[in-house]
Order: sequence, then structure tokens, then C-alpha cells
Amino acid sequence: MQGIVLTASEEFLATAIEELQQKFPQHKQVTLGPGLLWLETGAEHRQQVHKQLIAKPPIFVRHLYSATMWPVISQPELIASVSKSLLADLPSVPLGASVAVQARAVNTTLDWQPRDLKAACDSVLCEQGYQPTIKDPQWVVSVTQARQAVYYGLAPASHNLSDWTGGMLHFRKEPGDVSRAKFKLLEAIIRFGLHFPHGGKALDLGAAPGGWTQELLARGLAVVAVDTGELDPRLNGVKGLRFLQMNVKDLRFSPLEQFDLITCDMSWDPIFTAKLVNGLVNNLSPGGQVVMTVKLMGKRPLPTIQRVLTTLDQRLEVSHAQHLWHNRQEITLHLIRTK
Ligand SMILES: C[S@@+](CC[C@H](N)C(=O)[O-])C[C@H]1O[C@@H](n2cnc3c(N)ncnc32)[C@H](O)[C@@H]1O
Repeated sequence: MQGIVLTASEEFLATAIEELQQKFPQHKQVTLGPGLLWLETGAEHRQQVHKQLIAKPPIFVRHLYSATMWPVISQPELIASVSKSLLADLPSVPLGASVAVQARAVNTTLDWQPRDLKAACDSVLCEQGYQPTIKDPQWVVSVTQARQAVYYGLAPASHNLSDWTGGMLHFRKEPGDVSRAKFKLLEAIIRFGLHFPHGGKALDLGAAPGGWTQELLARGLAVVAVDTGELDPRLNGVKGLRFLQMNVKDLRFSPLEQFDLITCDMSWDPIFTAKLVNGLVNNLSPGGQVVMTVKLMGKRPLPTIQRVLTTLDQRLEVSHAQHLWHNRQEITLHLIRTK
């Protein structure tokens, strides 16, 4: 059986299902476990469905892989069958490539450990001239074992939306970090492949305590940070930072004040936030970028996001809209000023 394994957050699994039903009404979906879905495409449609998913990922899906499913009833059988498939598929992978084995068990009726499968696959990889790795793999062996079946796939990491197991991208808080909120920005940068101009100018709305501001400064941007609250004192006097302690709705810039990037992580009504960003488009240079979170605030996710997208100024093109691993009741948007 062929199809796609998709990961969403547990909280928004129903929304991910709704999105997939709209996109692929002809393909059956099965919930494999918390936040985990199987989209049954059959061999003839799998490549086409996968292509469509990668070209425009559903907002609430954070990881996916093309898979073949077969039944398994014991750990030895699981390990033997996956190792055999891997051995058969490896000739399509350039020799010497770094390959990560990402194995998960959900709702399992089998007594087994993903690390045992990883060890077996790693030894196949070594014997065949590949480099087993964990971080930044070029290729990924994905294995999900749910109930009495295994879902196996081998693909370049770029085909999976994220090269972390289930899109669960982890960062470590470093000494001196003023807030964990910066992980949301870091994840958007990695997941969306963003580049900000070194020496450019950023406007950070809802900046306190200053995680995003600190990250932008570290990337060589000058930052105008705005918040009604206070920035962490460790940011006092940092070169390149101007802090405006005020309500963003009272912001007025001269048309000559131009930013390369506007970031916005305000806990505010989603439509107000969209309108606020619209009001600043004239201060965003053509080609400039916006990274913003849209808070869902307990509202129905898809209609809320749809309203935000239709509210945004037409000069802002949506390049990414995604519920990231570090997003809770919110999604992250990346926009580009096109005109
Ligand atoms: C989630 S926090 C931002 C965290 C920040 N991105 C960081 O990395 O530290 C949201 C911030 O939005 C600010 N905020 C909400 N509404 C605001 C408004 N109307 N004007 C200015 N700041 C606002 C809050 O004071 C709060 O500090």
C-alpha cells in the first residue's frame, strides 16, 4: 500500500484533516496516532500528491514523507523487512551521502524500540558506503510503526518539509538569550529558508522581552523595536537598537523611513494585526519581507487565517503560511512586498 505519512500538532490535527480533505477529497485519510495521519494515494497518485504537498504545504502539516505500508507482527520481522527494503532502495542514493534514520512508534501493539531499528539501518548504511547521521542529513529513512503496520520511506531530506523527525525542530537556550520566543523566528528562518540583508533595517513589533530583536541584531540588522512593555535590560544600549515604548497603533513613520524587514509577534487580534502591517507597507522597501505570527485566539483556524490572508495588502505576497513546531495557538506567515 502506498501513500503519505503526515504530521500535525495534536491540537490542530482536525484542522490538518480539513485542509487535506479540501485538497485531496478522493484520497482516504486514516489517523495513525496523536498528530499523525496516513493519506492513502495508491502507487499511481503518490508522486503527484507529494509534489502538490511540497509545492504548497497545508498550513497545519509540519512534516510528511512518501511511504510504503506493510503489516508487521514482531520486532525481528519489522527490523528485517525495513533493512531489506533499505538495501534494495539504496542504489538510488548517491554513494557517501549522509543519511538519517528517523523512526517512531505510535499506538503500537509491538514490543520494540526505535533505537534498535536505527542501529540495524545504520549498519546497512555503513556497509553500503553511506554516512549515518542525525543532524542535517542529505537523505532520510523514515519509519513509523503504528498498530500492526509499518510505514517506510527513503527520500532526500528536502522532500519531507523538515529534516527533523516529525518536524520537531529543537533548539537549545543559550546563556544570554533573553527569551525562548526567538525559537519561533529561528524555526521560520530555517523552515522557510529565509535570508535577511546584513546591515539592513528591521522593525520589530511587539518586541518585548526582546528574543526576536536580539536575534535580528545578532544577524547584523539595525532594529527599531516597539512594545508597550519593557525590553530585557540586557538589551540596553546594544548597538543598532532603537526602542520605542508605545502602543503600535500610535506608530507613525515618515515615508522616508524604510525597512527591509518587519517582524510582528504581538498578542493581538489577527485582523487588527493584519491591518497594522498593511498600514506599514509604505515603509517596507520593495522586495522587503514580513515575518509575523497570527494568533488564533480560540477562533476557528481556517476561516480566521483565510480572513487574515484576504485582509492583507495586495502588495504583500504570501510565500509561506505554516503552523510550526514552536507555534502554539498561532501560525507563522512570511510575506514579501512585491510592488
Ligand atoms: C509574545 S510577546 C513577543 C515576544 C517577542 N517576540 C520576543 O521574542 O521576546 C507579545 C508582545 O506583544 C506586545 N503587544 C501586544 N499588543 C501590543 C500593542 N498594541 N502595542 C505594543 N505592543 C504590544 C506585548 O506587550 C508583548 O510584549
